[in-house]
Amino acid sequence: MIVKKEWKKLGFINEPIAEGTDLKAAIRQMCQEKNAVIMAHYYTEGEVQDVADFVGDSLALAQKAAQTDAEIIVMCGVHFMGETNKILCPDKKVLVPDLNATCSLAESCPPAAFRQFVEAHPGHTVVSYVNTTAAVKALTDVVVTSGNARQIVESLPEDEPIIFGPDENLGNYINSITGRNMLLWKGACHVHEKFSLKKILALKKEHPNAKVLVHPECKGPVVKIADKVGSTAALLKFSIQDEATEFIVATESGILHEMQKAAPQKTFIPAPPDDSTCACNECNYMKLITMQKLYNCLKYEWPTIEVDSEVAEKAVKPINRMLEISAKLGL
Ligand code: 13P
Ligand code: SF4
Repeated sequence: MIVKKEWKKLGFINEPIAEGTDLKAAIRQMCQEKNAVIMAHYYTEGEVQDVADFVGDSLALAQKAAQTDAEIIVMCGVHFMGETNKILCPDKKVLVPDLNATCSLAESCPPAAFRQFVEAHPGHTVVSYVNTTAAVKALTDVVVTSGNARQIVESLPEDEPIIFGPDENLGNYINSITGRNMLLWKGACHVHEKFSLKKILALKKEHPNAKVLVHPECKGPVVKIADKVGSTAALLKFSIQDEATEFIVATESGILHEMQKAAPQKTFIPAPPDDSTCACNECNYMKLITMQKLYNCLKYEWPTIEVDSEVAEKAVKPINRMLEISAKLGL
């Protein structure tokens, strides 16, 4: 298959799709014909989540990738998620519908600078959040997600010096609940660091019975007022199982799609960002994944995710260590 220069320049395929095409049906049919599986993160557009074989948080997406026997994995999410899949399944074709779907948090940790940081602190175990590039994972001892960070850190000896990167807010939160004193890389997610404590408290006044759900990438003061802190999957589970009928949700607003679907009788209020002039609580990278790009990506089997083999060989070890610990702990 010839990859057009124009596509390479764009990072996605912009071929027009015949008018009247039922995108959902056409995508499902291609999956069957090509033995492809579509995985989607909760932050993608609702229609993308609805066409996927599996929707999950970053831990579940990695676990699924490690188990699939499909020949093609289409990762509807951001680039590091595609990389994780490719590292776990080097013989499979891994596609991400738009290569511009990066992650501000992963980008806040350039591999060369992180290497210097690690080298400046010898004797530390390096724990990295999954929201990192493959090159950073290659410098890591064990990868974590927001769904297992606490348990994995707690599985390390209490006196073990630890470097944690790249999310400073998540690192501070894990330090606070485990009593550890991990050395933190100062990275952040441009969506989660913007939630406004003041506006959430104002919303609480309007909805006194609402429970506040917070992703641990949010800043400390927002995390402190949460009724539940957790990964996207943990927040979703809580919102379904808890007796409350109203929730203020301080994470990327794509998760509301699944919450509303799972509990249509409940009310979910997206937490507002501090700056009303910005496009707010949406991850602009996740929202780059559209049905059109997904259709074209499956049709032409591009853009593929490639990871340098030397980097992949190193990066697979801390990812597998995470999967092994998680399996042992039943996570
Ligand atoms: P989860 O691991 O909770 O799915 O979060 C991923 C992410 O990118 C949060 O911004
Ligand atoms: Fe990355 Fe933030 Fe988007 Fe999550 S919400 S993928 S951390 S930029």
